[in-house]
Amino acid sequence: MTKAAFPVQKQALDTDNAALEGETSFMYQSFFGLHENPFSLAPDPRFLLMAASHREVFERLLAERGVVVLTGEPGTGKTALLLALRERLGADAAVSYVFNTTLMFDDIVEYLLDDLGIAKPEESPARRLDALTSFLSERERAGQRTTLIVDEAQHLDVSTLAQLALLSTLERETPSRLLQILLAGPPELEEKLDHPDLQPLQASPRCRLRPLDEAEVEEYVRHRLRVAGAPDTALFDRGAIGRIVRFSGGIPRLINVLGDRCLLFAYADHDHHVDGGTARRAIADLDDAAWAPRTVARATWAGLLRRLRGRRG
Ligand SMILES: Nc1ncnc2c1ncn2[C@@H]1O[C@H](COP(=O)(O)OP(=O)(O)OP(=O)(O)O)[C@@H](O)[C@H]1O
Ligand SMILES: [Mg+2]
Repeated sequence: MTKAAFPVQKQALDTDNAALEGETSFMYQSFFGLHENPFSLAPDPRFLLMAASHREVFERLLAERGVVVLTGEPGTGKTALLLALRERLGADAAVSYVFNTTLMFDDIVEYLLDDLGIAKPEESPARRLDALTSFLSERERAGQRTTLIVDEAQHLDVSTLAQLALLSTLERETPSRLLQILLAGPPELEEKLDHPDLQPLQASPRCRLRPLDEAEVEEYVRHRLRVAGAPDTALFDRGAIGRIVRFSGGIPRLINVLGDRCLLFAYADHDHHVDGGTARRAIADLDDAAWAPRTVARATWAGLLRRLRGRRG
């Protein structure tokens, strides 16, 4: 049993933003009148901007039942959106969030029992599954929603995915679905679901998060500055935004990495604004460092956390 995995996944989600800020944002925060890091890499739902694609996906995830698959390139905001969904569903639904997806099916059942506060029969995996399905049926009869969110679902093995599909659609007297399961991961997740043993999942609704377009990048930068308390949300001029668009391809994680570096460079120049020249220097600096766009785009949030901790140690 991978019990130790549970505290780890909770800890990963609860990690304070400060752990992800790198070493620099504290230097410029007061200079720009910020009360926190506007470009933290943590998937903090407080910062979420409902860009067109994010809103579309969010509404579908709220509306769909059964298994739903969410994909998007690394850094497009899947985890941030799922955490926002968990908050939104919180009041009327039982929501469980699995982040550590090296778990096997029996481990996931056990995690659900723990997380949803269901008395746990110790005897066997089969009895525990029974306890879970009785709980789900009761909630369903009471018209209550239960949602399991599996982030980084590309790491689940095929048999676990197949069993999860069964769990969400167990035949009852009424054909309604017991459990909504959201499977999130990079585009490769869809390829994994093409496996012949996963036929039931192939018909499940799918949604894809898109990178931000040019206008959304500008809105995104302003939005994050506003949430972080900036008195002036037009800190970045047109030239700087254009460079951020080209560097990031509209991927929020890359916007954050570059946004942070731009503020640091402007601060070093005692300049309260970021223009195209400052952004160009920040990009050159990142290209020399481990933050090259391709590295960052491929890295997972957990990987970036490890990398930052490693750099400090
Ligand atoms: N729409 C958005 N509004 C505000 N911030 C966002 C948005 N989308 C993503 N972000 C931010 O971008 C960063 C990357 O987001 P997140 O970690 O959710 O991406 P991901 O798709 O889960 O990536 P990965 O595939 O690596 O897990 C986080 O700091 C997150 O807060
Ligand atoms: Mg993620």
